[in-house]
Amino acid sequence: MNKNVIFCYSGTGNCLDFAKNIAKGIGGADIIMMRSKPVVTDVSEAERVGFVFPCYGGGAPEDFLFHAALIKVNPNAYTFGISQSAAYAGIGLSRLNNIIPLKYWKTVTHQCSCIWLFPHDLMMPKMGAEDAQKRSEQLAAEIAADVLAGKTTDKLPPNNALNALENKAWAGIAEKKAAQFKVSDACIACGQCVRLCPRNNIRIENGKAAIGTNCIQCLGCLQYCPENAISIGKITDQREHYHNPNISAEELMKDIIHIEE
Ligand SMILES: Cc1cc2nc3c(=O)[nH]c(=O)nc-3n(C[C@H](O)[C@H](O)[C@H](O)COP(=O)(O)O)c2cc1C
Repeated sequence: MNKNVIFCYSGTGNCLDFAKNIAKGIGGADIIMMRSKPVVTDVSEAERVGFVFPCYGGGAPEDFLFHAALIKVNPNAYTFGISQSAAYAGIGLSRLNNIIPLKYWKTVTHQCSCIWLFPHDLMMPKMGAEDAQKRSEQLAAEIAADVLAGKTTDKLPPNNALNALENKAWAGIAEKKAAQFKVSDACIACGQCVRLCPRNNIRIENGKAAIGTNCIQCLGCLQYCPENAISIGKITDQREHYHNPNISAEELMKDIIHIEE
């Protein structure tokens, strides 16, 4: 195992792309995916241990936090956490910090993946996908330099009471939203969404995808569907789909991604 390890949750690629860019900037790293239970949980040999994850509903994906509690980190390791959001980071880093104390943390924004809430360019500051990607690469390089220098963050991560309320309500909202998934006749039953779903919530039935309600709302199924056959409510048919331009569905399905120096 590399002395640098980054745990990553990513639904539509922004966080994985960011984690890869940090990994390149710190001389390589093993990126361990956390969409489901990570294949490695004991990283007590690692010198630097990072976490890159998206804000979901004012917090962090619950599966990510649940699995973070299984990870064994050396108390002397340099730990860092990066929360990605469209506009506001919420309390995800604070919740992670309660599980694994973070020596350094940063919040960064990127294109909004929550298609039923906002169009993807409604990030803060508002910008299109190309500019957002350039900005993201620049920020990852800056963070990598901080990590290499062993920089620490003195303040605790944000723990806003309003975000905490939002985060509490989130699981119920996500489940209700999941009941609205529709798969159109454009579905060619390629099975990509079945393989991509981190909760094994999608099956092929009667020649097309059928989506259940055990859904964390990562929206990978919808945003990566090659036929645009998946929707959640009318608004998602009208809005342009988005996933990170550098990350394929196949890459998101990996357990570990080794980034060499
Ligand atoms: C279900 C869901 C909930 C989200 N909730 C928030 C939120 O509360 N605040 C915010 O600023 N962005 C929110 N976002 C936007 C994502 O955090 C952002 O687009 C992130 O870059 C996605 O990372 P990924 O591509 O690695 O999945 C949400 C996205 C999804 C899919």
